[in-house]
Amino acid sequence: MAIFKKKSDADVSLVLPEHIGIIMDGNGRWAKKRFLPRSAGHRAGAKVFRTITRYCSDIGVKYLTVYAFSTENWRRPNDEVSALMGLFKEYLEEALRDFKDDSIVVRFIGDKSQFDDELVKLMVENEEESKNRDGMVLNIAMNYGSRDEIIRAVKAVSEDVKDGRIDIGAIDEKYFSSKLYTAGQPDPDLIIRPSGEYRISNFMLWQSAYTEFVIMNKLWPDFTTEDLDEAIKLFNSRNRRFGGV
Ligand code: IPE
Ligand code: IPE
Ligand code: MG
Repeated sequence: MAIFKKKSDADVSLVLPEHIGIIMDGNGRWAKKRFLPRSAGHRAGAKVFRTITRYCSDIGVKYLTVYAFSTENWRRPNDEVSALMGLFKEYLEEALRDFKDDSIVVRFIGDKSQFDDELVKLMVENEEESKNRDGMVLNIAMNYGSRDEIIRAVKAVSEDVKDGRIDIGAIDEKYFSSKLYTAGQPDPDLIIRPSGEYRISNFMLWQSAYTEFVIMNKLWPDFTTEDLDEAIKLFNSRNRRFGGV
């Protein structure tokens, strides 16, 4: 049963994280267990992505960031990479249009330049079409790597210094954050990693300084809305101190 039924539910005993990040991991293992090709796992994972995104929007999450493809995932065999690119196109054409009903704002974080023209066009279209909506912000991390993001930010800050837009002494955390893909957004309160891996795999390194982590022993294609509720419950059991007492 859902903890938060609707945005309007007044009587909620749990704190809802404002920003949730999800490392959508375990598709390959899910497929392997079923003697299916890895691409079948990605297809199953994409379906879960749609369900969980809708659910987060329904319960009132303000920002959801999903890790869909890392800067390191190009190292995978060509057939797996092309299957993933095919799925991305399919989903950007169909599922993301569905998000319209939920007023979801779709944004992509990561370097678009390595994708083919057709995919880039779909990404830009989705961003343009959804930018004036007033619902949950969905960041889809594609060709995203946090180290790459930080290097880009360093370069942008350096340009500002070179062109006299800022003094070196005035560079602070807020200014630096404004050069990241997530500029203007709050840091994630909760990051969920299904599939039981205890690592961050280059996801939101800067932004997760004080994020609560929940690792779940479920493969992403098996992940349900109840699992999300469970992660939110665990989040609520944590004592966030931010360095204080
Ligand atoms: C996550 O599932 C999807 C992507 C990284 C694109 P994996 O494909 O990493 O699944 P496992 O970790 O091999 O099971
Ligand atoms: C992280 O998963 C990236 C995504 C889920 C998109 P990986 O499967 O690529 O991470 P590692 O290789 O296990 O660290
Ligand atoms: Mg993996």
